[in-house]
Amino acid sequence: MPVKRPAPGDLEPIETASRDEITALQLQRLQATLQRAYDNVPHYRQAFDARGVEPGDLKELGDLCRFPFTVKNDLRANYPFGMMAVPRERLARVHASSGTTGKPTVVGYTLADIDIWADLVARSIRAAGGRAGDLVHVSYGYGLFTGGLGAHYGAERAGCTVIPMSGGQTEKQVQLINDLRPDLIMVTPSYMQVIIEQFVRQGLDPRECSLKVGIFGAEPWTEAMRREIESKAGLDAVDIYGLSEVMGPGVACECIESKDGPVVWEDHFYPEIIDPESGELLPDGKEGELVFTSLTREAMPVVRYRTRDLTRLLPPTSRAFRRMGKIVGRSDDMMIIRGVNVFPTQIEEIVLAHDALSGQYQVHVSRDGLLDEVEVRCELEPQAGTVDEAGVRRIAEWVEHRVKALVGISARVVVLEPESIERTLTGKARRVVDRR
Ligand code: DLL
Repeated sequence: MPVKRPAPGDLEPIETASRDEITALQLQRLQATLQRAYDNVPHYRQAFDARGVEPGDLKELGDLCRFPFTVKNDLRANYPFGMMAVPRERLARVHASSGTTGKPTVVGYTLADIDIWADLVARSIRAAGGRAGDLVHVSYGYGLFTGGLGAHYGAERAGCTVIPMSGGQTEKQVQLINDLRPDLIMVTPSYMQVIIEQFVRQGLDPRECSLKVGIFGAEPWTEAMRREIESKAGLDAVDIYGLSEVMGPGVACECIESKDGPVVWEDHFYPEIIDPESGELLPDGKEGELVFTSLTREAMPVVRYRTRDLTRLLPPTSRAFRRMGKIVGRSDDMMIIRGVNVFPTQIEEIVLAHDALSGQYQVHVSRDGLLDEVEVRCELEPQAGTVDEAGVRRIAEWVEHRVKALVGISARVVVLEPESIERTLTGKARRVVDRR
């Protein structure tokens, strides 16, 4: 897929700085963050004291591993404002993460935090090939979710014109894209699939639309999905990563010229990879759980926050900062099927490898007595033409065989009519339904 946008635009000096300059900045900011957390957030004071460490113990970056982790439950236990390092009156805004059960987690921002966030999303947009003057269509949800407003402020900061469409109303999305002719779209990859389908339903060829770049994130998506969206929509698909507890979108973003994993904006976030079982630090290149310490957050500093996202840290390429591999999955989404660890992304790659299948799928897990049963539901691609019963059976067998060979589990595969699988219209796709 050719890169249609010029690369790279004006870079900030830190994006091409030496490793020494970056680590010096990180150390200074990390020391300040630990002190700020210790002085202002009772949770951190207690947690550091319990570990027998204090901020002054951090003499070099490697000392961070002596400090305690922070997990989502710590945020829940301090709901709503207990993790803030500033009085509530100094918060300019709150967002809340999409907690599936119980209380959501509330995150807070001062005006200075929002300013840095806008800068980092603007940096991400430039890395993705966006330039001042571009028209940006934002289909991430606006509201408590950080996607919409995060993308919005960043696009404005980058000097772009923003269409604050938010999620849903798919027909209207297509109409606005056709009429206003945006250059970029910022949306979850699963909702991009839905928008592409709507183009086709209206008799339009999505490849003919004005969009040149899609900045996709908020959920795991594979290289196979990148190829699928790029070829169907005729744009460059770039990966943006983030999480509300650490900031929101724009913690890391891919560069359009290399598309080799999101670059971590290491001047604002310090990444570590740990063994999710033992908590031990792993070297760069090894896959494990991603952990972040914020370096400049004012309202809500986070120290060694366990994201539950599984990936690796990779050496710098297009920028001076390290990259992360595409997220393999969340440890929460990992299904243990008869002892085998399975991620939805593995199923996604297999389904997308078959031309007659659309990129929509769902994995249903249930238990029959003592045994886990897995059913992979996928659906025919509308353009595949009519497929008779024997054809459907052959496709199902093909998928079953690949799942067995590549993932190592036996699954029942059901091939459904086009557009049978439920679409999520406003956010993250539900790829796993676990009934155990
Ligand atoms: O999803 C922030 C965001 C909005 C990122 C828009 C990118 C674009 P949360 O709702 O707190 O925040 O969910 C964070 O989503 O821990 C990952 O599991 C997942 N996630 C986010 N970006 C990616 C990505 C936003 N590029 C959680 N690839 C994270 C894979 C992602 N997973």
